[in-house]
Amino acid sequence: MPRFLAAQPDARLIPLPWHLPLADWPTDVLVALPRGISRHVVRFIQVGSEVFAAKELLEGSAMHEYRMLTDLSRLRAPAVEPSGVVSGRVDLQGNPLDSILLTRHLQFSLPYRSLFSTGVRRDTVSRLIDAMVVLLARLHLLGFLWGDVSLSNILFRRDAGEFAAYLVDAETGELHEHLSDGQRLHDLEIAVVNLFGEFCDLKEGRMLDEQLDPLALVKQIETRYHDLWQELTGVEEFAGSELSRIESRVRRLNNLGFDVAELDIQTSATGETIRIQPKVVDAGHHSRRLLRLTGLDTEENQARRLLNDLDAYRAKNNLSHVEESVAAHQWLMHAFEPVVTAIPPDLAGKREPAQIYHEVLDYRWYQSQRERREVPLTEAVLGYITDVLSALPDEVISSEMLAPVGESRQLVNPLDPSQGFVDDQDLPEDPWEREAFAPGTEVLPDHLDIDALRRRAKG
Ligand SMILES: Nc1ncnc2c1ncn2[C@@H]1O[C@H](COP(=O)(O)OP(=O)(O)O)[C@@H](O)[C@H]1O
Ligand SMILES: [Mg+2]
Repeated sequence: MPRFLAAQPDARLIPLPWHLPLADWPTDVLVALPRGISRHVVRFIQVGSEVFAAKELLEGSAMHEYRMLTDLSRLRAPAVEPSGVVSGRVDLQGNPLDSILLTRHLQFSLPYRSLFSTGVRRDTVSRLIDAMVVLLARLHLLGFLWGDVSLSNILFRRDAGEFAAYLVDAETGELHEHLSDGQRLHDLEIAVVNLFGEFCDLKEGRMLDEQLDPLALVKQIETRYHDLWQELTGVEEFAGSELSRIESRVRRLNNLGFDVAELDIQTSATGETIRIQPKVVDAGHHSRRLLRLTGLDTEENQARRLLNDLDAYRAKNNLSHVEESVAAHQWLMHAFEPVVTAIPPDLAGKREPAQIYHEVLDYRWYQSQRERREVPLTEAVLGYITDVLSALPDEVISSEMLAPVGESRQLVNPLDPSQGFVDDQDLPEDPWEREAFAPGTEVLPDHLDIDALRRRAKG
């Protein structure tokens, strides 16, 4: 009988065929979902409406990774959530089998290969790099030494016009009280080597824009990491007369999405110079504020966008004198919720609610510009549903959409449902990225430009 280690055990996991090597599991308990390249056998298993990622590995490694992920989740780091470890497995002949680490499937997440498979624009690559750099810096701030930074070990979620990156593989991770510069730079070096290889692979597979050079891309990662780290932790010295620079530093950090929990301020004996250094910085400035005000739990840039919309709503409805939390409640009831509830249930799996709201705001802005009038949100959402949302591939898996991997359709590789079915015509296409490589394709601006998309669709 296998042993289950879990903080919140799920009894539905017990009857699964733990006596079989993961690679031999029957397809009726598995689901086909995109995933990255892995060393171990990884499968997605479905239990009721929940999906878990299962990874088969040595007991010691499974336990270590489980503990690392538990610590990261306690520290609120962006990482997949551990569910448990199943160890002490034996097959029907009594031979021992490796342990299985279970994590909750990260909804709406995309492995980089899915993002790149239809070709990504140059500025998208740049955003992916930013997301990755923020992830690495956040982990380093927490004292987490990853040891295996690579695109395959990261999952991306849409975050307004940007991406948010999540750690998916903590097998080699170590948590320390504090990381030395040497440790951080070592991690960065690993990232550079791995990513260089991955970008070269993508280039070979014609999935990377011709004009992007893998070497330049990894250099960009290094520079951005150093810049971000300097901003987050660097010492700043200025004259005693320039006190406002303290405030500026805090504001700059807030703009990057970080809160300063502790700022070390030292004044020279004569008061002529001031030296400041952030000691404790905490990511999620905007998302925490939005959560406090509205209960919405979103990514950082989505929160920033929604908070701006809340400000605009307050101004437009003369709510500047009412308390912010009251205005936030009205905004939620009269702006946010009507948009979200207008989405037909069969399209709800395409995007998270906060992402939909952000995209509807963009859509409305373009429609208002084009038609030279102020388009109401309730009208814009209808246009968005027909023009944009209906054409997008699914990114979530909800219980209704989870068809079990049945016998009736033939899998490309029955042992690896993530490769899809033989009769799958094409990979789902994302119109944002479609034709990114076509000659003469106009490079879209940083934001959703529905006209440009239409022009392209007519093409
Ligand atoms: N909780 C999860 N949610 C979504 N995808 C996951 C999850 N866990 C693993 N994956 C997918 O499986 C892939 C391999 O997992 P990983 O832990 O990196 O395995 P390995 O240690 O063998 O490299 C990841 O790149 C990711 O795409
Ligand atoms: Mg991995």
